[in-house]
Amino acid sequence: MQEEINWKEVAGQLRHPQGQPGIETGKRMEQTNANMIQRTIDLLAISDNEKVLEIGFGNGSHVSYLLAKAFSVHYTGIDISETMLQEALAANTAAVSQRKAFFILSNGNTIPFADNTFNKIFTVNTIYFWKSLQEYTTEICRVLKPGGRCCIAFASKDSIEKLPFVQYGFRLLDAGTAENLLKDAGMIMEQTVEEEEIVKSNAGETLTRRFIIVSATKHFGHSDAQLLY
Ligand SMILES: C[S@@+](CC[C@H](N)C(=O)[O-])C[C@H]1O[C@@H](n2cnc3c(N)ncnc32)[C@H](O)[C@@H]1O
Repeated sequence: MQEEINWKEVAGQLRHPQGQPGIETGKRMEQTNANMIQRTIDLLAISDNEKVLEIGFGNGSHVSYLLAKAFSVHYTGIDISETMLQEALAANTAAVSQRKAFFILSNGNTIPFADNTFNKIFTVNTIYFWKSLQEYTTEICRVLKPGGRCCIAFASKDSIEKLPFVQYGFRLLDAGTAENLLKDAGMIMEQTVEEEEIVKSNAGETLTRRFIIVSATKHFGHSDAQLLY
């Protein structure tokens, strides 16, 4: 007889991967989300010497792709999972020892950096789990440099709402909600990309998923804006 899948546990591991099941979840996410993550990194348009922050890096297998985008890129990843932290460190030993990549545990509500630190910030498949959309977006805006770009990627509500694990603590969004969130935090919307792809879901079945990437920049602020005119 086939073993019953505990969907609450699957959801819990996606939210906060832990132990051996967390490592396995990280490997599945690496495969399922590779295209979505690469498309988000492409959209950031990283230039030489930029400082990039990622929120929720999973097992961090995509960091080499990001670092190859330009010369002397500085990557920092924050995540709430100790298991993912260890996986990401192991997957990126050279970049970590060369001080090109830093992985840090965070509390999931605040971003432990000073104002105006990063040129680019991105996050893929984490917005479902943020405690407060408004507070976390304000944090992202705070640590982004004026003129810096932020890209938030997630699977659209309509393409994943029937998956059996999303009823356990996933916040599902459409593009408009995410765009308004960034605007309300004081950012300027640049573009919204929507793409369909065929992936293997965490429920093990093949699924046509639509992902959305919203991209926005941070205002220069009144004093800087006045200098432009
Ligand atoms: C569903 S996985 C996505 C991993 C990867 N970004 C991807 O798309 O494959 C969510 C990841 O974000 C982390 N995470 C969840 N909530 C977070 C938060 N509030 N702040 C930072 N990381 C978070 C989890 O520990 C996990 O590594």
